[in-house]
Amino acid sequence: MFSRPFRFGPRVAIPTVGLLLGLAAIVSAQRPGRNAAYPQIDIAPVFNAQNELVQPKAFREWIFIGAPITPHGLNNGKANFPEFHNVYVQPAAFKAYRATGKWPEGTMMVKELQLVDGPAENPDGSRLEASGRGYFPGKVAGLDVAVKDSKRFTKSKNWGYFNFNHAPPPYLAAAAERPVAECAGCHIANAHEDMVYVKIYKPILDPLPAK
Ligand code: HEC
Repeated sequence: MFSRPFRFGPRVAIPTVGLLLGLAAIVSAQRPGRNAAYPQIDIAPVFNAQNELVQPKAFREWIFIGAPITPHGLNNGKANFPEFHNVYVQPAAFKAYRATGKWPEGTMMVKELQLVDGPAENPDGSRLEASGRGYFPGKVAGLDVAVKDSKRFTKSKNWGYFNFNHAPPPYLAAAAERPVAECAGCHIANAHEDMVYVKIYKPILDPLPAK
């Protein structure tokens, strides 16, 4: 009796390759952070059954693109946004913007508010450090997030706006989209490009020039 040697011929190979490709697709869609709806994004936004945005975790490990500040001391003692606005974006969204000049679907801009550290030594709210007189970051005090999704946010130029509390952490576990009049409206009216105040972050978004 001769046993025929097993040959990895096309009849075996094609279904096997097909199966492997199928498995690879399932596995990559299930990789933590990934979602097939946002193919370019490494850490996808997650919405719960109530359509609320789940608080993005570990955003301080993302790419930090800037920290504009409009302190009380320079706004007649009552600035609308008196804190540092520390802005973070997912690593993949950052790289995609650098490559294409566009924020991909699923981009999240996270803005964590950080109060000016006190006590103020001057009427403008500033104080002194060894480096000079200025404003220095103190306690964190709030979390805002903007998500780009052209299918979900058709009424506000493809971006949805979420507030996870304007108070110290713990921030809300999930947040509902804010009305256009509260957030998106001002971005629609004033933002520099695609709802983002991109000029503020541009010096960081641009790669360093070659030596
Ligand atoms: C009166 C205008 C105005 C309103 C209202 C407003 N924003 Fe903004 N937002 C800005 C400006 C200006 C910046 C950039 C400069 C800064 O942060 O000080 C900004 C920046 C942001 C950023 C960082 C990314 C970017 O677009 O530059 C996020 C995220 C954000 N806002 C979310 C929100 C949310 C959430 C709300 C509602 C709770 C809101 N904004 C309401 C004017 C506004």
